[in-house]
Amino acid sequence: MEVKFFDPTREYNNNKDKLDNAVSEVLKAGNFIMGNQVKEFEKSIADYTGAKYAIAVSSGSDALALATDVLEFNNNKEVITSPFTFFSSASCLYHSGAKPVFVDVDKDTFNMDMNLVEEKINKNTAGILPVHLFSQMTDMDKVNTLAGKYNLKVLEDAAEAFGMKWQGTNSDLKHSGTIGDMGIFSFFPTKTLGAYGDAGMIVTNNEELYDKAKSYRVHGATKKYHHDYIGYNARMDTIQAAILNIKLKNIDKAIEKRKIVAEWYYEQLIGIIQITLPSIKGNQLPVYYVFNIKAKKRDELQAFLKKNGIQTTIYYPRPLHLQKCFDYLGYKPGDFPVSENLCNEVLALPIYPEITENEVLYVCEKIKEFFRIQII
Ligand SMILES: Cc1ncc(COP(=O)(O)O)c(C=O)c1O
Repeated sequence: MEVKFFDPTREYNNNKDKLDNAVSEVLKAGNFIMGNQVKEFEKSIADYTGAKYAIAVSSGSDALALATDVLEFNNNKEVITSPFTFFSSASCLYHSGAKPVFVDVDKDTFNMDMNLVEEKINKNTAGILPVHLFSQMTDMDKVNTLAGKYNLKVLEDAAEAFGMKWQGTNSDLKHSGTIGDMGIFSFFPTKTLGAYGDAGMIVTNNEELYDKAKSYRVHGATKKYHHDYIGYNARMDTIQAAILNIKLKNIDKAIEKRKIVAEWYYEQLIGIIQITLPSIKGNQLPVYYVFNIKAKKRDELQAFLKKNGIQTTIYYPRPLHLQKCFDYLGYKPGDFPVSENLCNEVLALPIYPEITENEVLYVCEKIKEFFRIQII
């Protein structure tokens, strides 16, 4: 059997007429960039997440680049983030002129270990950039406490966290991205809410940050051809917004289905001692965007699964503090042992709403077979 890591054609075929019509409307209207569908999508995201303002942009990476500029993470100010994340969580800081300061992650949640953050704060620290990874959010109670105590700005990298909600010790459940000063989402095709190309979103509850981000999206212009800032071309394509408007209507069902798939994995894989399954910490609502296990003999397991037709992915094979481009920050192997170990052990199994139970059972059967072989 072949099991793909992700197959977007299944969802497309299930909703073909609606999606074709949505794209065709854009083609007929000829309004390819920032058309009405983009405004509609921004409003729907604000309503869905509870954010006051939403600014549609061209990708999650561009959303981070704009937000770090708007928050004035510049002039070599320090911003604390995770070394175990996608590249743009930290490259955005380089681009805005700030210095990424890494802290290790929690071995269970894979998110920034918030107990290690306070010791990194000094008079040059301007912000915290928590990254909500794979299936759960960083401890936002601790982020807020430190941000309040040291007057830091918070930018949530919620690229992977659409639909995740944090409750913590407060009574109201808040959507990821809406708790800090600004938050960003990616709509990269594999994401929980995925476009058919690149797209992203910034959310904020602050009107001033909203106005500035809107202008940064169009080269820093406040009025056409009048530039108060040096911004970017980071506009969203109307076709992507038209597709995302359709997909957003089904998002709760898609999130629920991801949970069911995760349960199939938990049921099948629990008790295999060579594997650690994801564990959710803190009072929050997870979304199973990535089902990342920790596995002994990870590379051999991945090769075995591949030989049996099963695609898997490694998020992430190398932590950011050991990337060549960040040599200038002066980190060395051993600085963040949890992140470094994770890079050798994590393996993301296929999970998306349209995957079938048979496919998941086959993946689990092959994992069990691999470890039986290893034991013998
Ligand atoms: C944690 C994280 N941050 C940022 C991004 C960047 O998003 P995009 O691919 O839309 O530029 C991603 C996407 O892979 C991500 O996973």
